[in-house]
Amino acid sequence: MRWRSVVLGLLLLRLGLQALLALLPALARGLCLHPRLPCPGPRPPALPGPPAGAAGRGARLWGAAAGGDEYERRYSGAFPPQLRARLRDAARGMFVFGYDSYMEHAFPRDELDPLHCRGRGPDRRDPSNLNINDVLGNYSLTLIDALDTLAVMGNSSEFQKAVKLVIDTVSFDKDSTVQVFEATIRVLGSLLSAHIIITDTKQPFGDMTIKDYDNELLHLAHDLAVRLLPAFENTKTGIPYPRVNLKKGVPPDSHNETCTAGAGSLLVEFGILSRLLGDSTFEWVARRAVKALWSLRSNNTGLLGNVVNIQTGHWVGKQSGLGAGSDSFYEYLLKSYILFGEKEDLEMFNAAYQNIQSHLRRGREACNEGEGDPPLYVNVNMYTGQLMNTWIDSLQAFFPGLQVLIGDVEDAICLHAFYYAIWKRYGALPERYNWQLQAPDVPFYPLRPELVESTYLLYQATKNPFYLHVGMDILQSLEKYTKAKCGYATLHHVVEKTKEDRMESFFLSETCKYLYLLFDEENPVHKSGNKFMFTTEGHIVSVDERFRNSLWEDILPGEEDSAHKTKPAELKAANFSSNCNRVPDERRYLLPLKSNYMRQIDRMVGLI
Ligand SMILES: *[C@@H]1O[C@H](CO)[C@@H](O)[C@H](O)[C@H]1NC(C)=O
Ligand SMILES: *[C@@H]1O[C@H](CO)[C@@H](O)[C@H](O)[C@H]1NC(C)=O
Ligand SMILES: *[C@@H]1O[C@H](CO)[C@@H](O)[C@H](O)[C@H]1NC(C)=O
Ligand SMILES: *[C@@H]1O[C@H](CO)[C@@H](O)[C@H](O)[C@H]1NC(C)=O
Ligand SMILES: *[C@@H]1O[C@H](CO)[C@@H](O)[C@H](O)[C@H]1NC(C)=O
Repeated sequence: MRWRSVVLGLLLLRLGLQALLALLPALARGLCLHPRLPCPGPRPPALPGPPAGAAGRGARLWGAAAGGDEYERRYSGAFPPQLRARLRDAARGMFVFGYDSYMEHAFPRDELDPLHCRGRGPDRRDPSNLNINDVLGNYSLTLIDALDTLAVMGNSSEFQKAVKLVIDTVSFDKDSTVQVFEATIRVLGSLLSAHIIITDTKQPFGDMTIKDYDNELLHLAHDLAVRLLPAFENTKTGIPYPRVNLKKGVPPDSHNETCTAGAGSLLVEFGILSRLLGDSTFEWVARRAVKALWSLRSNNTGLLGNVVNIQTGHWVGKQSGLGAGSDSFYEYLLKSYILFGEKEDLEMFNAAYQNIQSHLRRGREACNEGEGDPPLYVNVNMYTGQLMNTWIDSLQAFFPGLQVLIGDVEDAICLHAFYYAIWKRYGALPERYNWQLQAPDVPFYPLRPELVESTYLLYQATKNPFYLHVGMDILQSLEKYTKAKCGYATLHHVVEKTKEDRMESFFLSETCKYLYLLFDEENPVHKSGNKFMFTTEGHIVSVDERFRNSLWEDILPGEEDSAHKTKPAELKAANFSSNCNRVPDERRYLLPLKSNYMRQIDRMVGLI
């Protein structure tokens, strides 16, 4: 199961415009500004090579450096442009190898088995194999999910070929029971993203138009969404069932429990679809689900749990956290606002963010000042705010990226640094890491993108070369530990580095895309003048006037009482003026986190 939710939205939108602009000093990019620091020479490009700080090597790397600080010497100063270009090409190569292998060995099946060089579809023999069946719908999942990465990499010939293949071969009229959330973010989102790219009048990625295109991808998206709609029927709360059969609707024996992220992060895709079609149905059901969940938050803490009964509204899972089961719920409150400009979405997000800060955040108050443990977001009981366990999960690594979007860059720096330290220790992120035991609780790594995503967004916000070093470490360990005969493989165990025969579709749609974007200085995605947001599956959508206007007159749930819609420009994030918590100039080309704090984190994860 992948109750994940990550999205990102790199964008200079009104919320963070001021904050981000302040952080984009095009001016001195790549220069070594700080007088105290000698400019380190270019690092020898070594690809593929060992991740610089893989398990057990920390002490040697950072132990007893003489003169100057090890962290500063390793990370600060200019990042050679040639190395950056090589890394960009390496990220592209990684995508091409995975994509070509899928097309050669697996298409039209859903996923590639990278060890055995063959395709994989739904597990019909074992319907309870949810790990597979929730995601694989027998609809060429990996091809669909990869479409906009081809565009972002500027590969118009392959983009056009792939779109035609989808139009000619994909059908959703399948006897497959899939998870509504996964089908929405991976398939619906990608179809909509590709449709938007094809119909974009500006064509920023090169010629991505399709000859005689007749909105086929939009029709496919519509067809899929209609097949998902039964999940929203016969539910007493309006919170949808987690799974539907694409042919037959909700299976008769369906249980009534769903997780918050799965039920509450459908609004971006459903809203775009509604606004493109001029049919409010999809946005209406998705919005009703968000509001139903929101109304169930605790009176005491304002927090939501992670699993809820859709008929009774009782919380079955009382854990409140930022990772699995919750993550994209928060992400989509903000991203829906960014896209659609509906005031209520921002109000919910602001309240949620405040409750997260009050109840989930532990450690010292400021990331780069003072005493105490580094800030960390923990899992607590939604009613009491008390600690429920001592692990953090790999999905939560998306959160610093979300913090960048609202301008809370300082806090983002600290949380990201913690995850990066875990990555350095294992050359990957364990699915769950126990910060008390300093060991993985759940040791697999399915090529997830969240840390790269946050790294990319933090780089765009700060332009600090530190984040290019982080990206290089990630790229190198992916090459070293996950590359297989035909693609890239899930790590079964991050310590033993054993592999599993699975390459999830998000590897191509997100992990490779974010790595590429991190190193591709000139990409249209982050050129000023273009405004893109990333969905939780890493699909790009343009922040477009089209999505600001609903073409229907129907009343959306809860709209009765707010007759006048506030114009988006009048709204601000709760902490707009003060949360432009920008990185001070003098630190911009130093380490984003002071080296004593980095050392503290490395100790905490057993790296030194
Ligand atoms: C486009 O993608 C195809 C398939 O991966 C690849 O063979 C081709 O070299 C790519 N072209 C460019 C210009 O990147
Ligand atoms: C997938 O769909 C095709 C075409 O509809 C069908 O022939 C095939 O049996 C399906 N595969 C599985 C595993 O359901
Ligand atoms: C789900 O809830 C409905 C309505 O309350 C009930 O009839 C049904 O038995 C429940 N299903 C399960 C599997 O518990
Ligand atoms: C929360 O407060 C509302 C209104 O005061 C009340 O109706 C509801 O029962 C309360 N919920 C809980 C869980 O205490
Ligand atoms: C707003 O930002 C200030 C300064 O960073 C911080 O101290 C305060 O807690 C923030 N308030 C909220 C509501 O997040």
